[in-house]
Amino acid sequence: MEKSNGLRVILFPSPLQGCINPMIQLAKILYSRGFSVTVIHTRFNAPKSSNHPLFNFLEIEDSLSEADTRNHDINLMLTLLNQRCESPFRDCLTKLLQSSETGEEKQRISCLIDDSQWIFTQPLANSLNLPRLALIATKVSFFLGHFVLPKLRRERYLPLQDSERDDPVEEFWPHRKKDINRLLDEESEILDEYLNQNYETSKASSGLIFMSCEELDQDSLAQTRKEFQIPIFAIGPSHTRFSASSSSLLTQDETCIPWLDQQEDKSVIYVSFGSLVPISESELLEMAWGLINSDQPFLWVIRVGSVNGSKWIEDMPEELMERINKKGKIVKWAPQQEVLKHRAIGGYLTHNGWNSTVESICEGVPMICLPYFWDQMLNARFVSEVWRVGLHLENRIERNEIERAIKRLLLETEGEAIRERMELLKEKVGRSVKENGLAYQSLEHLVDYISSF
Ligand code: UDX
Repeated sequence: MEKSNGLRVILFPSPLQGCINPMIQLAKILYSRGFSVTVIHTRFNAPKSSNHPLFNFLEIEDSLSEADTRNHDINLMLTLLNQRCESPFRDCLTKLLQSSETGEEKQRISCLIDDSQWIFTQPLANSLNLPRLALIATKVSFFLGHFVLPKLRRERYLPLQDSERDDPVEEFWPHRKKDINRLLDEESEILDEYLNQNYETSKASSGLIFMSCEELDQDSLAQTRKEFQIPIFAIGPSHTRFSASSSSLLTQDETCIPWLDQQEDKSVIYVSFGSLVPISESELLEMAWGLINSDQPFLWVIRVGSVNGSKWIEDMPEELMERINKKGKIVKWAPQQEVLKHRAIGGYLTHNGWNSTVESICEGVPMICLPYFWDQMLNARFVSEVWRVGLHLENRIERNEIERAIKRLLLETEGEAIRERMELLKEKVGRSVKENGLAYQSLEHLVDYISSF
């Protein structure tokens, strides 16, 4: 830590792995710049406080039942969390502010930084006279564009003719109509109301922080600044400064690193769908056969509980497991950033969560896109059609398609061109986070801004 600047920031992550990682990385950045850090968190998916002895952790009751936490409907869970955490969070924050005013706490609390998914925090911060900044875990273009979803629903976007499925969507570029179809399918009217509130609370905040940069989000950043008229910070992919391993909720299986050491350069396809995506048993089998038939080595993350109807992979036929073990390795959770950095990795079959997408870009690993929901469809379009640093499976989870995509990416000249473009993108983003790069400068502005409260 730099010398303490006498200021404390209060952080409040949303309890999802993809949101906890950037928040804890931001905590480490701010701590290294002299801020003391208090993390208020839910009981559900509580970060491991023992991994961060330099921060204060305060747990609030979220009143989620076992069944609530097993629910795959993330939107429903967020609605519940917003309802149930409001009062305990208010009590916790009020106490913290009181103790800082009465002098029991030596430092002054400068601001609250919470995930933009919390919508009750802005009115609360206003009432307590505390500046609040929102951290956004998605790409800027998704954040800006997704507020149009209630309007698209009102205009009765669905159903879609077959002939128009691939048409571009001007209001939410570079989505295609079939992507919006999937988005509106998962999105409910309850979520429309939530999005409208989220828009208002984001606009009323003291600033927005993105884990992106001008090089990845230039137009959307300009548009967001124009529309929101508040300070906007794009501080770059946060893992480039501090690794996310310490905030992993699951234990990372390190045995995959010595296994990778035995593989040839750029020969292995890494397969992982993040912390939330569930897959069906038939999808699991198609993936297994696609990987085996590609005849490339593969490292495959299958989370416990992610295969619908099974605990893990106990139902995988024995003969298939033998084939898998000849060419590949399955783990329950990997040290992803270490894996992507490894010289043996040649491609990443991914769900395109924003963290995974930027982690792959920062290591120059080209992708095969298999997005499932929410912001993943937009990220996949950027990867495959705008930056052209990956191939898109277009949701065809079939063994032949998977085998073909792997071969195109790892063995054919098409793959070489993709890899070259990825190398250039990696360098651009790398320059942005280095001293005097645009993301670096934005971080400096953020630190100055928070210090000024
Ligand atoms: C979700 C959404 O999918 C994502 O798009 C949104 O922006 C945040 O919430 P998630 O599905 O978990 O996140 O995906 P992603 O954003 O990619 O985050 C996953 C994180 O878990 C990454 O930081 C990755 O490095 C880590 N991870 C993943 C591991 O540490 N080990 C693994 O085996 C897999």
